[in-house]
Amino acid sequence: MLRRLIALGLLIGLSPLALRADDPPWLVRSQAGMVASDSPEASRIGADVLAQGGNAFDAAIAVSFALAVSRPQSTGLGGGGFMLACLAKENRFMVLDFRETAPTGATRQRYAELIAAASDGPPPTIYGGNAVAVPGQLAGLVEIHRRFATRPLKELVQPAIKLAETGFTVDDHYLEACKEALADYEKWPKLKEDFAEVYKTLLGSGQPPKAGQKLARPGLARALRLVADQGPDAVYQGPIGQAMVKATQAARGLLTEKDLAGYRLREREPVRGSYSGYEVVTMPPPSSGGVCILETLNILHVMASDFQGGLRAVRDDLYPPMLVCALKHAFADRARWLGDPDATPVPVRRLISRDYARELADRFCPASNEEYGSTRMPEDRGTSHFCVADKDGNVVALTETINGVFGSLVVAEPYGIILNNEMDDFATDPGRPNLYGLVQGEANAVGPGKRPLSSMSPTMVVKDDRPVLALGASGGPRIITSVLQVMLNVIEFEMPLEQAMSQVRIHHQWLPNEVYFDREPPGELARGLQGAGHALAGQRKTGVVQAIQLLPDGTLVGASDPRKGGRPAAP
Ligand code: DON
Repeated sequence: MLRRLIALGLLIGLSPLALRADDPPWLVRSQAGMVASDSPEASRIGADVLAQGGNAFDAAIAVSFALAVSRPQSTGLGGGGFMLACLAKENRFMVLDFRETAPTGATRQRYAELIAAASDGPPPTIYGGNAVAVPGQLAGLVEIHRRFATRPLKELVQPAIKLAETGFTVDDHYLEACKEALADYEKWPKLKEDFAEVYKTLLGSGQPPKAGQKLARPGLARALRLVADQGPDAVYQGPIGQAMVKATQAARGLLTEKDLAGYRLREREPVRGSYSGYEVVTMPPPSSGGVCILETLNILHVMASDFQGGLRAVRDDLYPPMLVCALKHAFADRARWLGDPDATPVPVRRLISRDYARELADRFCPASNEEYGSTRMPEDRGTSHFCVADKDGNVVALTETINGVFGSLVVAEPYGIILNNEMDDFATDPGRPNLYGLVQGEANAVGPGKRPLSSMSPTMVVKDDRPVLALGASGGPRIITSVLQVMLNVIEFEMPLEQAMSQVRIHHQWLPNEVYFDREPPGELARGLQGAGHALAGQRKTGVVQAIQLLPDGTLVGASDPRKGGRPAAP
């Protein structure tokens, strides 16, 4: 393999590219606690909770409610999420899975028929009631509260209620989301009739508000007051849930009150792997994120073991094509093997083992796309991520989603809650790419009560049992590649966090068989990958990372990816 790598290296002469930003406003240092979210208002709310003596879980709950207000395009009570937490007192890591689930009536056949009938109209797994899966968001927040919080729920919802009443500040990311949604409203004008609430209240009937303006959400304030008074029952047994059901069914969907009453979150064991003297603790299925990250790291480790000094030593000339090959193997396996572990056996141990990585690394970068990952295994755009660390050592990495921009466009009125379109994360039409271009397999087929496969990857890098880096991202499958590259930039290439976040990012998800970049790649990088036989996509897309680095002297460095306009905040 070494010879092949060196031959490849001759074709490539790479140098890392950084956005130069000596003192970026999206990076904050403190020893008192830290919140890094993609919404400055939500980060501030979380930091205030820490300042008043709340712990990381109190702050996380307040941040999540605030994001429901200020990021209607990405998250909210109509969605779901995953939390990875480090519990300082118990010195352990745990995962809460409050992912949405398919409604009881959701069968493969129904979705096959819907898709066949949809012709040129809005895709039924993206817009409308059939896109909606049973939301898990409030169940998750309430469970975090019940087990780990120190402040009353009422108190933690309060800042979000105020933000909804006075209005969140419209920013560039919000306006980008409006532009994206409006393009579809123009493409299918019937959406204006069918999903008038989002069109009127959030998209200004085609004239979105200006950056810097406040956009109040009085209906959502009302919903949050109900949550403060009634707790989870407001959604799972009460008026908000009834409104969700009514809206979904009016949009031809399946959600029932019984589905809501039957929603169950899951506590899961994180998946773990080791890399370069660190432990990587990350999200298990039904996310594909942790498995893909660990599989890729293992392949890179094996490939780099031919070089003295490991990956660091090969980085300049070989790292990008090695990374792309490793990603293609991992994403091929994602498509073939990953799904809801409660419904499908998922060979996690095998996929994240070094032995398996050795097999794949030996194959290196086959010309045929069919030869990535393994076909046989032995027995054996609407998302928000944030991180919180408190002064006592508790750390939270939480990714939440309604999937696409403004989810399904179905709104539970009069509460202004946008319902997710997470059903599109299933392989609803095998062989056909979903919203994120992912082609997925049998393991992720639709089924009643099943959780759709996710890419959300809340992750912590651990040294001597303590997290040294907590991170996660939004951006569909690009979550995985963004988390992976920022992590490698910090732990392998020893970059300061601001540099690690600013590097050009590469993405490959096996299918489509092309390499994506977040911006125009430097000429030599593009030529190098082309020389190694990879097709380059013209589209510019990546994930949006939020991270906290925990330095040995107790300093917390919070960073919000400059790509989404977030800002970290400290107490
Ligand atoms: O769970 C998932 O993988 C997707 N629903 C995530 C979508 C996403 O990140 C949209 N991006 N901003």
